[in-house]
Amino acid sequence: MEKINEELNGLWEDAIRTRFLEHMKDEDPEEWIKQNALDFRELMSYYRCAIMEVETKFKVLDEELSLKYDMNPIESIKSRLKSPASIVDKMLRRDFSFSVESIEKNLNDIAGVRVITAFPSDIYMLSEAFLRQDDIKLLQEKDYIQNPKPNGYRSLHLIVETPIFLHNSTKLMKVEVQFRTISMDWWATTEHKIRYKKDVEFPEIIDRELLECAEMAAVLDKKMEIISGRKPLKIEAI
Ligand code: GTP
Ligand code: MG
Repeated sequence: MEKINEELNGLWEDAIRTRFLEHMKDEDPEEWIKQNALDFRELMSYYRCAIMEVETKFKVLDEELSLKYDMNPIESIKSRLKSPASIVDKMLRRDFSFSVESIEKNLNDIAGVRVITAFPSDIYMLSEAFLRQDDIKLLQEKDYIQNPKPNGYRSLHLIVETPIFLHNSTKLMKVEVQFRTISMDWWATTEHKIRYKKDVEFPEIIDRELLECAEMAAVLDKKMEIISGRKPLKIEAI
């Protein structure tokens, strides 16, 4: 137990613990932590396995397409596990009861896989090939490429369920998959640094400029796709 507590102290940092203490008014938080530490770590480990499963599926598609058609649609894959601090913040912000089961039930984005392509059409080709797989179940789709967010954000988001095969059981885990072109990813990564969920001075000016950059990036994506001779993706008039 000493060892678990040591690891926990590293996991649930001070800020998390404080917020957690405020939330769990009627329970002994130390007792809660002792009871749930292993389950929480187990859940995080299952999400890591789910990331591996999904990453492998995209690596297989890239390998196959490079052999058959001499194309490597995937530029890169970036995956991340949501940090314990972000998990606690989101649970409290959305007012969900705080338990390991509730974290699993209510959060869709603990496991995140981002697939970056050169061309917009490859996004739809890859997402279709991925969703056609027997063991992948689509739970939610948000197409911010056909319908960009008002700030200019573009990306295709899927929430899927994938099985992970354990030594004597199979578990279904949720994974958020985001598809972006290099230019959509460049914009989103930069915008994230400048603006996303942040207060800035002169927000109207910054937002207008960011939107203009997103639109320019979309024009470049479309132009590159035409130059490449691939079927261009229909992009809404901007
Ligand atoms: P979150 O609670 O932030 O996860 O958003 P959501 O549940 O409303 O889902 P949505 O599919 O809209 O966004 C999920 C993720 O997409 C975010 O966590 C970001 O990684 C990314 N994202 C969405 N909108 C933006 C945006 O305007 N700018 C940037 N940089 N990223 C965004
Ligand atoms: Mg998220």
